[in-house]
Amino acid sequence: MVKICGIGAGYVGGPTMAVIALKCPSIEVAVVDISHSRISAWNSDQLPIYEPGLEEVVKECRGKNLLFSTDVEKHVSEAEIVFLSVNTPTKARGLGAGKAADLTYWESAARMIADVSQSNKIIVEKSTVPVRTAEAIEKILAHNSKGINYQILSNPEFLSEGTAIQDLLNPDRVLIGGKESPEGQKAIQALKDIYAQWVQEDKIITTNLWSAELSKLADNAFLAQRISSINAMSALCEATGAEVSQVSLALSKNTKIGSKFLNASVGFGGSCFQKDILNLVYICEGNGLSEVANYWKQVINVNDYQKNRFVKRVISSMFNTVSGKKIAVLGFAFKKDTSDTRKTPAIDVCKGLLGDEARLSIYDPRVTEDQIQRDLSTNNVEWDHPIHLHPLNPTMVKQVSIVRDAYEATKDAHGICILTEWDEFKTLDYQKIYDDMQKPAFIFDGRNILNVGKLREIGFIVYSIGKPLDSWLKPEGHAYSGVMDIIP
Ligand code: NAD
Ligand code: UDX
Repeated sequence: MVKICGIGAGYVGGPTMAVIALKCPSIEVAVVDISHSRISAWNSDQLPIYEPGLEEVVKECRGKNLLFSTDVEKHVSEAEIVFLSVNTPTKARGLGAGKAADLTYWESAARMIADVSQSNKIIVEKSTVPVRTAEAIEKILAHNSKGINYQILSNPEFLSEGTAIQDLLNPDRVLIGGKESPEGQKAIQALKDIYAQWVQEDKIITTNLWSAELSKLADNAFLAQRISSINAMSALCEATGAEVSQVSLALSKNTKIGSKFLNASVGFGGSCFQKDILNLVYICEGNGLSEVANYWKQVINVNDYQKNRFVKRVISSMFNTVSGKKIAVLGFAFKKDTSDTRKTPAIDVCKGLLGDEARLSIYDPRVTEDQIQRDLSTNNVEWDHPIHLHPLNPTMVKQVSIVRDAYEATKDAHGICILTEWDEFKTLDYQKIYDDMQKPAFIFDGRNILNVGKLREIGFIVYSIGKPLDSWLKPEGHAYSGVMDIIP
């Protein structure tokens, strides 16, 4: 039986290795991690991450050809192919702090591979890394090679959280970068043979190493740029009376543009977009490409602007203060169908509202109370936008309660902020919610999932990103400005 080992049992390593085990019964898959709590969760009924369909895949393979272990060295030394899916966060301090990728975990995994290996291996980069990281890992391995031959491949992962299993089972494409030498091509073929068990061959693209590494950063930058583009349009829609969902629809019918990633929102979140763009910016700056760096940085600036704009809209609508007012926050995860809160826009919005002394009552169907408290009490030093510059007063965090359903969160509240597009928020009984709220009752829909007309009929004052403002939200005497203002 071929043995493969996945280092890193996180959001990428866990699902990816589980799907390989499912589709390749003749391969023995070991997933290893230095975190004991993560591995024991993978071996229990409470998996460490929530992903639709993941539990079924793990239950099908665990104990057959899939195992989870903390015995990292044993499984690495026995494997023919080693997948590296360790975390590569933004550096928090030192050279390149706030932008460059922190390769500490990456390097320590590479050194460990060099120490324990006794046979030739293919090393597969699954983590998202700066361009030319394969060269760095090769240097580490070559210095301790003991005559062992290593082939490094770049095989970036394109799954999205919330749809990880579907994305892994039916990928748009699988990208494999390797060397052009005969050994490099042989390694590419070995990895191709694994994916070919369930992915059509024409979807498996091969490139050189550097193109594969850069393609992953480019992919995330392009996706994030689309969201910042539509979010920038949403601000203009509010100023002019256009409606962003109608603009999105019109754009989506242009086959040159396509229909995905055109939903205006309170801002993008998740562990990847900001980190990978910052990394791209850092690489551009390091190569003297300041115009290119500034171009991509603007994608993050617009995202920060969008989160700030939302906070300001809430506060200004509610008579310029939310001090002491109960605000219900519905949704805390960075998107629906995940429990992940890394870089969720909810953190910045909540911190902004707490900064104005609001009392928050937060409900999310999947995120634990501990996680929310941790997210709101730690200070984010990665990116120097204004919200992060002001450490939160610990007493403000006491202004937060985490509750078990949307009705409890909204009872007696002055306002509601929808920050994640969970399906259950679309079908709540908004008449009942309205009846139980303070008046005037406000709703701020940061995900455009609610029926604005119906809510206004009930009596709510409604703000929905990029939609025409109702008269309450427009300053006295404000008219939409457009060409009529310019024509004399
Ligand atoms: P994660 O933090 O969920 O998981 C990483 C795991 O690696 C952790 O459990 C950690 O304990 C483990 N680890 C760190 N150093 C180790 C070592 N030396 N030996 C063994 N285990 C070690 O991270 P993630 O979200 O799975 O992301 C992993 C990589 O994949 C990152 O580079 C990320 O950019 C990339 N990526 C993530 C996604 C996503 O949606 N999360 C999608 C595509 C690519
Ligand atoms: C992203 C990439 O999509 C994926 O290819 C990569 O492998 C990892 O990073 P992920 O972060 O899991 O995936 O989720 P994604 O669906 O891309 O959403 C990211 C953020 O953008 C979320 O906060 C989401 O709510 C937001 N978003 C997405 C929008 O605001 N509008 C959209 O139209 C799409």
